[in-house]
Amino acid sequence: MAEGLKVLRAVLDEDVKLETTEYDFGARRYHATGDTLTDADLAALKGHDAILLGAIGDPSVPSGVLERGFLLKLRFAFDHYVNLRPGKLFPNVASPLAGSPRIDFVVVREGTEGPYTGNGGSLRTGTPHEVATEVSVNTAYGIERVVRDAYARAQARPRKKLTLVHKNNVLVHAGHLWKSVFDRVGREFPEVTTDYLHVDAATIFFVTQPERFDVIVTDNLFGDILTDLAAAVTGGIGLAASGNINPAGEFPSMFEPVHGSAPDIAGQGKADPTATVLSVALLLDHLGHREQAARVEEAVAADLAGRTGEPRTTAEIGDALAARVSG
Ligand code: IPM
Ligand code: MN
Repeated sequence: MAEGLKVLRAVLDEDVKLETTEYDFGARRYHATGDTLTDADLAALKGHDAILLGAIGDPSVPSGVLERGFLLKLRFAFDHYVNLRPGKLFPNVASPLAGSPRIDFVVVREGTEGPYTGNGGSLRTGTPHEVATEVSVNTAYGIERVVRDAYARAQARPRKKLTLVHKNNVLVHAGHLWKSVFDRVGREFPEVTTDYLHVDAATIFFVTQPERFDVIVTDNLFGDILTDLAAAVTGGIGLAASGNINPAGEFPSMFEPVHGSAPDIAGQGKADPTATVLSVALLLDHLGHREQAARVEEAVAADLAGRTGEPRTTAEIGDALAARVSG
């Protein structure tokens, strides 16, 4: 986080006034107060133009507490329905894929619905006949707004291609709704070429033909899984950035690395801050500072291109990126 802020400060011109407020939402606070994200926290956060979130999670906190009680609560409360996750293979970055294919796509993952809503329950708990259901919620309204956003992003890119990923051969109800909304909204974007893939087939193409993708739109859970795969084929989760966007600007959007908090190396100064820095680029772009966003991304590209495998500390990478964006 310190390195992300360092680069953000370095890239902004003097005429842009940056005011930051730090909030402590991690495991430490949870242990001290039992709070994850209170109404007062949300009210305070609402006053900001954007949120930069450090990776959260700690083995000392039971699984699900911070995930549901903080991260998903924030995404839902601030209606972050566009979860934007670029998958880009930068030059000189080792991809596990043969021949380092051209990979430059963006996944528009729905962020407020699907199986993430917490609808479901258990029956006959604790018996051999226990039944657990996890209901995926898909609304025409929720699908349409994220699909429209994805079309607009595809329209703005050179290749103008949009792929819907679902599983409508099995999840027929939700799958049909997604496909019919996708086709209907597509009539408003005649220049955008579309296709459809089942999610299982999509995982094959992510590995065998990632260059076929431009913009992908998909539901919350498929998007979660596919974007970890996207990170893996583009150099690893340490480079993957994301934006949790409320396009209308009713609430502040939130930008975070896709990775977790890596508690095994916490405090050792060796975590790569690149995913956070690339999340800063997404934040700048979202706030309309396009030129600065591009400069941050170019600095990251240049830094990656110059890497020799010589280990650097977190701060050294941050310093190098800050120097590149300001010089
Ligand atoms: C992510 C994470 C989260 C998700 C978890 C931590 C709730 O995996 O941002 O991809 O599933 O969305
Ligand atoms: Mn994930």
